[in-house]
Amino acid sequence: MYKIGIIDTMNEEGLKLFDQKKNFSYEIINDLSRENLKKELPKFDGVTLRRGKLDAEILSKCKNLKVISRHGVGYDNVDVKFLKENNISLLVTHNSTSTSPAEHIMFMILNIYKGREMFDTMVREGNFYKAIHLNINDNFELFSKKILIVGCGRIGKKLIKKCLGFEMKVLVYDPYVDEKTISDLGGEKISNLNEGLKILDIISLCVPLNKDTKNMISFEELSLMKKSAILINAARGGVVNENDLNKALNEKLISFAGIDVFEKEPPDKDNPLLKNKRVVLSPHAATFTKECLEKMSEETVQNIIDFFEKKIASNKIVKL
Ligand SMILES: NC(=O)c1ccc[n+]([C@@H]2O[C@H](COP(=O)([O-])OP(=O)(O)OC[C@H]3O[C@@H](n4cnc5c(N)ncnc54)[C@H](O)[C@@H]3O)[C@@H](O)[C@H]2O)c1
Repeated sequence: MYKIGIIDTMNEEGLKLFDQKKNFSYEIINDLSRENLKKELPKFDGVTLRRGKLDAEILSKCKNLKVISRHGVGYDNVDVKFLKENNISLLVTHNSTSTSPAEHIMFMILNIYKGREMFDTMVREGNFYKAIHLNINDNFELFSKKILIVGCGRIGKKLIKKCLGFEMKVLVYDPYVDEKTISDLGGEKISNLNEGLKILDIISLCVPLNKDTKNMISFEELSLMKKSAILINAARGGVVNENDLNKALNEKLISFAGIDVFEKEPPDKDNPLLKNKRVVLSPHAATFTKECLEKMSEETVQNIIDFFEKKIASNKIVKL
């Protein structure tokens, strides 16, 4: 019998997959505190992980642990060095976690480019014709705008398609993806990030958070952008330096931002971005659609079953 710990809540569609398996039992762990994880996790052969942080100290208590199945694709909440040294596998939801984030990025871009709730408010407040008298300088077409997609993985690739649907010009910065792959998708590879920053209208970060991408976009990079530029971060907090972004917005070095992820989640009440009117926010919710959450929970559970049944696909296993 394989004992599986389900760390954090997940859609029940995934959990139903265990019902068909006689050799798997599971337990849901809702208390994500370090103390509780240290106490509860040692009994499991495998765990699924949504929120919650698994550091080396917690993992060192888990003598039976053979696999962690992430509910998602980012794994900055796991000590990967420990996993590597101790031969613990890490699985990600390779198939289900890119459509909704790419759509969410489009939602944020459109939201900003089409005036947020301005028109909705006018109609509700009885100001139907107010828009006619306004100087509309903040609403834009996406047609022919240049987007720079930083990171051409699962989400970046989906985003290219969506942007091309809006007849945008797509630039891509990803040193690990070759020119042909990008041009076959309809994008143009940019080798020098700073050159791309100078010409973009929209930038979307689609990279993992690691030591190379931490603060990848700071004040210096923001200063290179056009004053009309907008920035979308639905990757991870920390890829964009929050204080620098807030400063750049206040100094009107760039025009707007869409932020789904924060350096600290939930953000502190005094996080300046929460009060900045030039930012559209969402609570790390880029995957929060009915379809995506169902598919992610199913893939998370199926991955751990496939791992123990020795039929896990190689693209689900993170190369540590
Ligand atoms: N907001 C959300 O709810 C949400 C949902 C899913 C994923 N994410 C985040 O988005 C990230 C990307 O997801 P994905 O599935 O596309 O990942 P992925 O691993 O498929 O793609 C990441 C891409 O980034 C590139 N990259 C790595 N370092 C880079 C660098 N320094 N400069 C430029 N490119 C670099 C890689 O070559 C790769 O192509 C995840 O790591 C995760 O943190 C957030």
